[in-house]
Amino acid sequence: MAGSRGNGSISSTSCGGLSELSGGEPPHPRRLYGRKRGRPLRRGQQILVETLLPRLAIDLPRSGGIDLSRLFPDAPLSVWLEIGFGAGEHLTAQAEAHRDIGFIGCEVFENGIAKLLGQVEPRRLANIRLFTDDARLLIAALPPASIGRVFVLFPDPWPKARHHKRRIVSTETLDQLSRIMADDAELRLATDDQGYFAWMLERVANHPAFEWLARRPADWRGRPSDWPPTRYEQNARAAGRSALFLRARRIQRRGPHREA
Ligand SMILES: C[S@@+](CC[C@H](N)C(=O)[O-])C[C@H]1O[C@@H](n2cnc3c(N)ncnc32)[C@H](O)[C@@H]1O
Repeated sequence: MAGSRGNGSISSTSCGGLSELSGGEPPHPRRLYGRKRGRPLRRGQQILVETLLPRLAIDLPRSGGIDLSRLFPDAPLSVWLEIGFGAGEHLTAQAEAHRDIGFIGCEVFENGIAKLLGQVEPRRLANIRLFTDDARLLIAALPPASIGRVFVLFPDPWPKARHHKRRIVSTETLDQLSRIMADDAELRLATDDQGYFAWMLERVANHPAFEWLARRPADWRGRPSDWPPTRYEQNARAAGRSALFLRARRIQRRGPHREA
């Protein structure tokens, strides 16, 4: 949303700590662009942020990686990751449909996080954990080949050429995702910005670890039935913009890294 928010509320936040987690200096200092806060939270939302969020939030370990086996009360069949879940419509629908899967949702926008928290107890979603900082920090701390599916849905398009370097879908992010995704794991991307779709496709298709799964135009013009819509998609359609979808498979490694 930040790219289309396009107003004075956009801020950038420096994200330290990546070099420590990934074991080396990142080539460029990373910044997180976008709004972290919108309207003041309602009283009930504030209570959820103070009481429920600490129980669901993932803290990065000071050293080493995240131990996924300790994250969920029951060992999940697989762990799926959503980056930038917005208000959480897709994440909660998936978590409700797949109670045997563990879900990690990443979002920095406080009002979106509060909306998702409001769904957790009424829908008894014991299989969601949240990371409320830059998703790239979490990715750097996840074990290799540990994630069974990744969603990046309607990421901020940053349509101006001088802002393209802010796009979350980049070769660098794909490199990181290819490390944490299990063999045959699926990457799901969506956007309503044709230029960003072409950008995503070029990077995914040229990445040695990913295979684009589309066979016919219907595959990128429509969602499969197990892919619930997000708020951003619904807003885009209401404004007359169509959505584009990209599914890719993490190609099998030659070594032993299948899903943990
Ligand atoms: C355009 S919105 C789309 C939200 C949602 N996926 C949807 O389709 O309705 C993009 C979201 O990604 C979040 N975001 C952007 N960069 C992020 C990052 N590095 N880590 C976590 N969240 C991020 C923003 O805060 C914003 O809420």
